[in-house]
Amino acid sequence: MPPRRRLTAFDAFTKTVEDARVRTTAGGVVTIVAVVIIILLIVSEWSDYRRIVNRPELIVDKTRGERLNINLNITFPTIPCEILTLDVMDVSGEQQTEVTHGIIKTRLNEDGSVISTEQLDLHSTGDKGLDPGYCGPCYGAVPVGEEGTRCCNTCEDVRRAYQEVGWAFGDGHGVEQCERENYPKRLQEMAHEGCNIAGTLSVNKVVGNFHFAPGKSYSSPNTHLHDLNIYETSAVRHTFTHHIHHLSFGPHHHTVSNPLDGTVKETDERNFNYMYFVKVVSTRFERIGTLPLDTNQYSVTSHERAIRGGRDEDHPNTMHARGGIPGVFFSYDISPMKVINREERSKSFGSFLIGVCAVAGGVLAVASVIDRGVWEADKALNRKKAV
Ligand SMILES: *[C@@H]1O[C@H](CO)[C@@H](O)[C@H](O)[C@H]1NC(C)=O
Repeated sequence: MPPRRRLTAFDAFTKTVEDARVRTTAGGVVTIVAVVIIILLIVSEWSDYRRIVNRPELIVDKTRGERLNINLNITFPTIPCEILTLDVMDVSGEQQTEVTHGIIKTRLNEDGSVISTEQLDLHSTGDKGLDPGYCGPCYGAVPVGEEGTRCCNTCEDVRRAYQEVGWAFGDGHGVEQCERENYPKRLQEMAHEGCNIAGTLSVNKVVGNFHFAPGKSYSSPNTHLHDLNIYETSAVRHTFTHHIHHLSFGPHHHTVSNPLDGTVKETDERNFNYMYFVKVVSTRFERIGTLPLDTNQYSVTSHERAIRGGRDEDHPNTMHARGGIPGVFFSYDISPMKVINREERSKSFGSFLIGVCAVAGGVLAVASVIDRGVWEADKALNRKKAV
């Protein structure tokens, strides 16, 4: 046997002899239907290949030493900027009291219109026009070890000195430096104002809190106190009614919704305390064709209560209310789990091609079986008729 003959024995695709081929109408219909079905299936295969699926994944967050940006925009309509302070504290011991950088304070009129947005400086008159040798009294508020060397030339100096020794300062009535700077009068003029605080705080990514409270704050080794004097004695009733326009952690992403945005809380009481307990969950978004974005989502529970006012026996000068101080407190906790939202193509190009071959081959095979069946049935009918 010549070699070519030997190979023909393996031919799986036996060919029909041309003469024996017949075309039928039924065959044509089956072919057209088969082609339409193939096209439809390939289109669906293609859209399946183009489809992007989101694969969320939960992992333990192992990043260390990161910082967390807190973006906030909160309006307090019934408390002037001058007696509102923002303090940030965390468990690592880092404390930013009276935060000023990265945060804009906006003074608002009673109707909510903007008065000014610059950094407030009530004591701008400074020591202008003062005798160079002048050394103002600090009214006894001199830290141990600095007796006799300390001068308080401006109202702000006196206030600082009071703050350092932990005394309540009040509105500066009877303090020579403040009277000269007209401080009590200016404070009175501001009594009806509101305050908007907006900006970004950068904190360590550990458990911590930030709070808005009245009066200047000062910290002794194991306490954190606020000078509530002006807040509590002011003729105009100040409250911690607040509107949270925005609070978020980290950069903006369109799918992250912030549950506190748009929160409005109103109270008529001076001694009212709002607490927000926030759980921050790190979230990473990985999109096809863009850089990954690391941000955070959060959930929140809140609590509000009226507090009993009264003097603190241990600090008789500080008017530190028993059972907490009025204000708006945010405690944040960092979740140990991190969510990764990864976008992926649901199929590779290879499996798309495999799909196309399977569709074409499969449909044609089924069509030929049907065509064969129709042909055989037709023949059988014709034979019967002939008989
Ligand atoms: C804070 O929110 C208010 C109200 O949505 C808006 O008018 C204002 O521009 C915001 N401030 C900043 C600094 O984004």
